[in-house]
Amino acid sequence: MSMRRFSITLAAAATALLLALLPWAPGAAEETAQPLRDSAPEGFLIGSSVAGGGHHEAEPYPDPFAEDHAYTALLGQEFGSLTPENRMKWSDLRPSEDTYDFSIADEIVDFAERNGQEVRGHALLWHDQNPDWLEEGEHSEEELREILREHVTTVVGRYEGRIHQWDVANEVIDDEGHLRTKDNFWLRELGPEALVDTFRWAHEADPEADLFLNDYNVEEINDKSDAYLELIGQMLDADVPVHGFAAQAHLSTAAGFPESLADNLDRFGDLGLRTALTEVDVRVEMPRRDSTPTGGQTAEQADFYSRALEACLDVESCTSFTVWSFTDRYSWVPVTFPGTGAATVMDNGFSRKPAYDALEDTLQAHLPSQTAVW
Ligand code: XIL
Repeated sequence: MSMRRFSITLAAAATALLLALLPWAPGAAEETAQPLRDSAPEGFLIGSSVAGGGHHEAEPYPDPFAEDHAYTALLGQEFGSLTPENRMKWSDLRPSEDTYDFSIADEIVDFAERNGQEVRGHALLWHDQNPDWLEEGEHSEEELREILREHVTTVVGRYEGRIHQWDVANEVIDDEGHLRTKDNFWLRELGPEALVDTFRWAHEADPEADLFLNDYNVEEINDKSDAYLELIGQMLDADVPVHGFAAQAHLSTAAGFPESLADNLDRFGDLGLRTALTEVDVRVEMPRRDSTPTGGQTAEQADFYSRALEACLDVESCTSFTVWSFTDRYSWVPVTFPGTGAATVMDNGFSRKPAYDALEDTLQAHLPSQTAVW
């Protein structure tokens, strides 16, 4: 090799090395941006749901958690907290009155531990995804109370010390601000006492776990979140072990950003509760399932993600921000809200969208300013 050729090769290698090391070099962001979990401030968790069960069962792909290794690799790398999307619901844990199937729930908890992640348990008392043997069975009130007590004790007890937060009550208040005493099976059959009992049983089974009420359309200060404030106030007065209030945050660009989010979370924090955003996604209008969102839509979506995260970071009580699927490949949105989609921070092929970068930038902006070492 001539001297000139050698020095050109050397110069090219040096440039490549420099480009790889410089975070502001063109194209370097994708490779060098650190995982979201590592950009989060101390004590603050960025989480994701774990896909499987529910709507996935009718989709033309194999079970994501068991089969999609690129998916689980990202799940393990990017997030500090996991929430099983369906695998801890009654539908999945209770094939029959006499049996439990913990196989996949156990795998998720083991996976989280291997990856140094926390787990949010979801959900114990809900009006949806209850098995037919339960809702259509012939049980006396006394038997139902025992079925509920036994389930809560068994499930929470099984993961004692391994699940740091439970969505104990899910969606127990309707949009008008009334307790769902008609469409929630438990509240209909056993009365509001079932709610209080479920918290007490869960607390006995794992005294260290934080017990939450979780719902949608409670991001804003409105009739529904007002009703939660009142309900939780009453529960605390009666010494019911309630520790947290969570807004799911299924947002939509068409509906506008919930401007009072931070103020709303703050008033729950003032009761001494933890708060969290537990199921964040931001759907955009999509004429067809395979349409591509416009640049304007993706930018607006990124803005919603970053403002929601910012609100949570700004509120002392808010200690976690969990996305409901990190990838469009597995999002429940197009199935549940036809005509909308592309609601997550990565596309079908796991490429990061502006929404991902917006989360990363928002976290970076909240890191305590670092003292330069030179
Ligand atoms: C959804 C899941 O994402 C779907 O897979 C399933 O088919 C239905 O439930 N609020 C909740 C979540 O608390 O449990 C719901 O999850 C979404 C709305």
